[in-house]
Amino acid sequence: MEEKRYLTFALGKGRLAHKALELLEKIGITCEEINDPETRKLIFVNEELKLRFFLAKGPDVPTYVEYGAADIGVVGKDTILEEARNIYEVLDLGFGKCRMCICGPESARELLQHHEQIRVATKYPRIARDYFHNKKYQTVEIIKLNGSIELAPIVGLSEVICDIVETGTTLKENGLTVLEEVCPLSARVVVNQVSMRMENERITTLIRRLKEVTT
Ligand code: PRP
Repeated sequence: MEEKRYLTFALGKGRLAHKALELLEKIGITCEEINDPETRKLIFVNEELKLRFFLAKGPDVPTYVEYGAADIGVVGKDTILEEARNIYEVLDLGFGKCRMCICGPESARELLQHHEQIRVATKYPRIARDYFHNKKYQTVEIIKLNGSIELAPIVGLSEVICDIVETGTTLKENGLTVLEEVCPLSARVVVNQVSMRMENERITTLIRRLKEVTT
């Protein structure tokens, strides 16, 4: 029989990876080493199942998967939308639930309603542009930031922000509020388009088993 090739998983670093590994464990896929906080290793192998795992920055996961450097990825829907790579999104894992929202001080609500030419600060310029230009037909100026987005309306960089809201605590503690909802978000499984054809049976079996433990 032909030797199976390795299937490679790219996991978005942080909470998502931790949760994803817990789910994989539930379906009998383990990788002890990856849970070792001391390790500086970048890639982990399960020889028995012919699987490899690596952790990557969230926004890089769709890139690894599009190019086939990873067959399967676990990443947030926000990142999938923002990166817009040619990959298949095959499963909603149901954790990491939050919302992409337009937020700001209550006073900005009027500006949104009257389609004023406002500035929108965000880590997600593609999502923000798509929402305002293609869904609301509103001309806005998008300002790309890399973090602590809630600062922008407070210091006068922008009128509103387009950002992730989970518990709403960050907004509340900074006198901001959700003005409009763009879309719901959660962790998703993505697959390389060629791998999906070439390793169809292994990959669909895996997805089916993951689905069984997520619902
Ligand atoms: C995210 C997001 C919000 C916050 C929302 O930031 O950008 O700031 O979490 O969570 P909450 O509704 O539960 O308060 P993250 O912690 O990823 O850091 P960042 O500022 O670098 O984006």
